[in-house]
Amino acid sequence: MPPTIAVIGGTGHEGPGLALRWAKSGQYRVIIGSRQPEKAAGAAAELNARLGQSLVRGMANPEAAAAADVVVLTVPYSAHAATLESIRAGLAGKILVDVSVPLQPPQVGRVYIPPGGSAAVEAQTLLGGDVRVVAAFQNISAVHLEDPDHPIESDVLVCGDDAAAKAEAVALARAAGLRGLDAGPLQNAVVVEGLTAVLIGINRRYKVKGAGIRITGIGEEPS
Ligand SMILES: NC(=O)c1ccc[n+]([C@@H]2O[C@H](COP(=O)([O-])OP(=O)(O)OC[C@H]3O[C@@H](n4cnc5c(N)ncnc54)[C@H](OP(=O)(O)O)[C@@H]3O)[C@@H](O)[C@H]2O)c1
Repeated sequence: MPPTIAVIGGTGHEGPGLALRWAKSGQYRVIIGSRQPEKAAGAAAELNARLGQSLVRGMANPEAAAAADVVVLTVPYSAHAATLESIRAGLAGKILVDVSVPLQPPQVGRVYIPPGGSAAVEAQTLLGGDVRVVAAFQNISAVHLEDPDHPIESDVLVCGDDAAAKAEAVALARAAGLRGLDAGPLQNAVVVEGLTAVLIGINRRYKVKGAGIRITGIGEEPS
């Protein structure tokens, strides 16, 4: 049985493209999570229509997290702690891939370091050692993810304190058509999250939609 991924907040901008790519890869079963189960079901139905087969289900966030092997969090930072509280019962023993970026609207092109050090570190602190938190995908713009056949010229920097959990996130990146790279401990997520604010500023100044980052010097398929 392929592993199940729940994309919490998968009704927004970033989550659906990731869900679509993972479902299309055939390597995962995918659940869209929402505060409203009917909204999740609608988002799942839209993705299934695009896929031409029924590969994605919709559920309320807590049920989605409980039903998954790997949980991916794609909600605004303002909803980060409350959403984690709402799903924590279903996270025990699992990997949480945190895609969240702390931003302070309207100044979204400025790096904001939250009180706990970074969104991902705050998630780990809130959830405790029974959940392995990995930070990934924060630098991948939703505009690139939405077309699953569109190649993306950006790397996924993966930060975490558990090697197996990071390897799972690298595999998720590969299944989504991306190159995932081990970017060190979870503490390093502060830089990766901050890079997203830098990229948003670059998007604005250069009038583009999806600036990204690429690590050079290590070849296409690092071991
Ligand atoms: N968009 C991008 O290009 C991009 C790129 C990289 C990283 N990110 C990061 O990924 C995360 C998600 O981004 P996004 O653009 O997908 O966000 P979004 O569309 O604004 O929100 C995603 C989902 O989060 C839930 N949500 C929104 N406000 C909430 C609230 N106040 N309380 C609880 N749930 C709430 C909603 O789901 P329900 O209403 O269905 O519950 C919503 O559909 C953010 O942290 C963002 O910084 C985004």
